[in-house]
Amino acid sequence: MNAPPAAAAPAYWHRTSSTTSPGTPSRRYLLCPPEHFAVEYAINPWMDPTRPVDRTAALRQWADLAAVLRGLGHRVELMDAEPGLPDMVFTANGATVVAGRVLVARFRHPQRAGEAEAHQRWFTAAGFRQVRNALEVNEGEGDLLVAGPRILAASGFRTTPAAHREAQRILGLPVVTLRLTDPRYYHLDTALAVLDQERIMYYPPAFSPDSRRLLHRLYPDAILAHGADAAVFGLNAVSDGRHVVLPATAQGLADQLHAAGYQPVPVALPELRKAGGGPKCCVLELRSDGGPP
Ligand code: ARG
Repeated sequence: MNAPPAAAAPAYWHRTSSTTSPGTPSRRYLLCPPEHFAVEYAINPWMDPTRPVDRTAALRQWADLAAVLRGLGHRVELMDAEPGLPDMVFTANGATVVAGRVLVARFRHPQRAGEAEAHQRWFTAAGFRQVRNALEVNEGEGDLLVAGPRILAASGFRTTPAAHREAQRILGLPVVTLRLTDPRYYHLDTALAVLDQERIMYYPPAFSPDSRRLLHRLYPDAILAHGADAAVFGLNAVSDGRHVVLPATAQGLADQLHAAGYQPVPVALPELRKAGGGPKCCVLELRSDGGPP
């Protein structure tokens, strides 16, 4: 029997020059090529060190993500990959930057601890003047998402509630504490994405009942992802307020975004998914808010 023809992707899902929109303010992002990428340990349920990883494919897929971000008019900065730090491609975990203030991460697992130093060095060399090393465990934008006037912060697996208080003190924005409960969604950016100053999308079952109530109260018009899209890291998305870069496999979520007036932009990062990461994990936003640097 012949297999049924694959459903055609909707027209908006194709990447064309129309995704470039001169009206969207340009953002500045920090990325790191997966030159030493590997799955050598398992610190989240997606990682299986016995499963082979194709680093060449990972590099190609990552380069495509960087090209997409540049194509949208954003500035991509690069940090050097270091041997012995196979997860370094996930720059989102290395720091959180608000108005030029940098809170460098302190990783939960010793295998990633060295990444914090690499970030500290990069930010200092890049001319950021307010660079602070965290005293409490926080995994940067993996768990601390800047959402307009506040930071949405998760605890449960990596970042601690004490780190939320530290982030509020150092970054100067009020922090809303949320609790993750499903180990597959171990970082906030695997279960929630900030779309613009007012809107978010998230997967409610990843959160405790109290956090779900809080999110519903703060964001009554949020886009709620379905399980199938969350499971392919659909929520691990990078939004510039208009374009939302997300895994091509999250088709349902792309439809929801399109219906809500956003432009979904597909990328494919299957190799990095073997480490439990998607597009957002590879992108750290450098918010200087107009001030130096
Ligand atoms: N293997 C990495 C870890 O478990 C993946 C990090 C993904 N990053 C993210 N922002 N969710 O720490």
